Amino acid sequence: RMRRWQVECRPDIDTFTPGLLALYESLKPSEEHKSNQQQLVDSLSKSVSKEWPNAQLHLYGSCANSFGTSHSDVDVCLEMETGSESIAEVLLKLADVLRTDNFDNVEAIISARVPIVRMSDPGSGFSCDICINNLFAVANTKLLKDYAQIDQRLLQLAFLVKHWAKLRGVNETYRGTLSSYAYVLMCINFLQLREPKILPCLQAMEQTYIMNVDGTECAYFDEVHQLQDFGAENKESIAELLWAFFHYWAFHHDYRRDVISVRTGNTISKQEKNWTTRVGNDRHLMCIEDPFETAHDLGRVVDRQTIRILREEFERAAAKLQNDDDPCVTLFEPY
Ligand code: CTP
Ligand code: MG
Repeated sequence: RMRRWQVECRPDIDTFTPGLLALYESLKPSEEHKSNQQQLVDSLSKSVSKEWPNAQLHLYGSCANSFGTSHSDVDVCLEMETGSESIAEVLLKLADVLRTDNFDNVEAIISARVPIVRMSDPGSGFSCDICINNLFAVANTKLLKDYAQIDQRLLQLAFLVKHWAKLRGVNETYRGTLSSYAYVLMCINFLQLREPKILPCLQAMEQTYIMNVDGTECAYFDEVHQLQDFGAENKESIAELLWAFFHYWAFHHDYRRDVISVRTGNTISKQEKNWTTRVGNDRHLMCIEDPFETAHDLGRVVDRQTIRILREEFERAAAKLQNDDDPCVTLFEPY
């Protein structure tokens, strides 16, 4: 077996940068898409305020963190006093309100880790997930959005990785692969680890933004306009970075020992987090620490079979970019 981790990127890799950038541009949501999303949010907001006049509506996830494509759904968090009612009761009531107001396919999903109401908008057909008081998601949405403003290569890389993951069938948490959120964190951590660095570690810098969520402080440096040149010394192109990303996850990352940690801008050891053995359903085979809910491993859904599938997919992707004549096509071939 060749020592593939020592392989260097093909010398003509840059010839694929224009094709990859064109693909990235085509994935960005259109103005029409954004205005449809806004309409959905407006009509939802009207429905909610009738029953809960003091509720605040926050957008989170890809419709607000700038990593949304033209296929992304709308994620909404309602911040409200629930009084003596449980979250489940509030969600069931919300589902009734939305049905009455003629939203389609309204369904309360109470048993999930984060319980939600899911529905779709009759006008645009968008699907929308609504959760209650999940302010960690609102905080991590802002964190991702702020990282995206530092160096444009993050958005480019993450769009291409998300697109690849969807087409290759490895963006399905209910089947043991990773969420879009996990892929974006992998991209951020990867760019934090480049030499020279392309992204800083905002949580290790002066705290200019502090939000307290259920007793946990979510704090970091958010004056990102001051960091516009941060990655300038690193001249790597998007084609090189995409190859290096897959190569890193195929051959460099130490799955047995390490946890990726955007919070520290580094990898840390599983030992340090006590993520060395299976606890309940958390297998900790591939470990991705949530930046704010640090006890939360976003890779916990990965099992023995899907970790193998993921690693094979990373290898395949690196090989396509390394060897094919038209990797912009073959990389994204549906599985
Ligand atoms: N989220 C989270 N913890 C998770 C999964 C998701 O806090 N384990 C929150 C994050 O704020 C994330 C949002 O839920 O941004 C939506 O998650 P996901 O659907 O994975 O990502 P999107 O960015 O919305 O991607 P897509 O474009 O595929 O909808
Ligand atoms: Mg989403």
